[in-house]
Amino acid sequence: MRLEDFKVEQWMNENEGDAKYNLTDTCLSSFSFQELMAMKEEDLSGLVLDYGEIQGSTRFRQEVLSLYTTGTVDSITTANGCLEANILVMETLLEKDDHVITCVPGYQQFVSYPKSLGCKVTTIELEFEHQWKPDIESFKQAITQQTRLIILNNPNNPTGTQYTESFLEELIKICSPKGIYILCDEVYRDPRKIQSISDLYDKGISTSSLSKLYGLAGLRLGWVKGPVDLISRINSRRDYVMISTGPLIDALGTIALKHKEEILERADAILCANKSYLKQWLASNPQFACVIPENGTVSFLRINGMKDSASLAQKLLNEEGIFFVPGACFDHEGYMRLGLGQDPQNFKEGLERLAKILKSEK
Ligand SMILES: Cc1ncc(COP(=O)(O)O)c(C=O)c1O
Repeated sequence: MRLEDFKVEQWMNENEGDAKYNLTDTCLSSFSFQELMAMKEEDLSGLVLDYGEIQGSTRFRQEVLSLYTTGTVDSITTANGCLEANILVMETLLEKDDHVITCVPGYQQFVSYPKSLGCKVTTIELEFEHQWKPDIESFKQAITQQTRLIILNNPNNPTGTQYTESFLEELIKICSPKGIYILCDEVYRDPRKIQSISDLYDKGISTSSLSKLYGLAGLRLGWVKGPVDLISRINSRRDYVMISTGPLIDALGTIALKHKEEILERADAILCANKSYLKQWLASNPQFACVIPENGTVSFLRINGMKDSASLAQKLLNEEGIFFVPGACFDHEGYMRLGLGQDPQNFKEGLERLAKILKSEK
């Protein structure tokens, strides 16, 4: 079945290069290769560039395991980013006519990809008026006999919604007797602050990567953690599409995770500075509104009176170098996706400029 164009990724690909103020990126400012190398404790020059351990080196998988509270290295397999990790899970679990539930506004992959496999997808609306919080009743109502998988993004891109442990426990109570799997894309999860679905539920699957909080999207290194039988089925599929992520990327990823405390502390400092400025900025610019998320790196900025988010985003980029992904890319007008993880000085200047320009246009 035809796969729909991925609107957010297309917008990013076409426009990101022109940004002076990237107010929309979902990653923490990225590390350079030199910065990553400065963290290493051993020489990599003797590394043999064969396929390496196919599912990811035991060392890397042990480091990944330290981000969770349950499981073994056999509960983990690697992928080219969280994007591919999600695909591996969906392709392994889903059959034509299965039913999938996910939330919107959200990451388009969770709607378009299952549809392309012939699945029926029910979307549940998160609403600004309810601080983008999920409502367990909507999940109860959406579940059918055919429901095979619920896909959440915790915290959610673009709304910043966090599915709390108590919400997840309630959802598990509903899903468990029916054998429904829950996939949580946890690419924005800080393991020190948020519980993983894979540690709470025997049919819970976590996908993640080093792209966002770790600022290493260029490594394209992600993973799936879940029930061992499912991981083993995913591994059979991996043999056809990727074999392995390769020993070099694996070794670099291992260095990063060995230094996760300092990397996550750096993320804390940037996110905290940006969120604190954002709070101040919102208070003095009532034309804008936004639920500042407790965790994660994104939020959805409402701009009062904006009707055509794509045209405004294009104009802001062309004339001012201010880069946003418009709400239109999430099929939700009235918003821009605001990233919270880039350089605080640039973030501040970009928001100041945005407020000034929109005020002068009134
Ligand atoms: C929810 C979500 N999942 C996955 C990805 C892609 O992650 P990766 O770079 O690890 O493939 C993104 C990127 O924006 C995302 O927002």
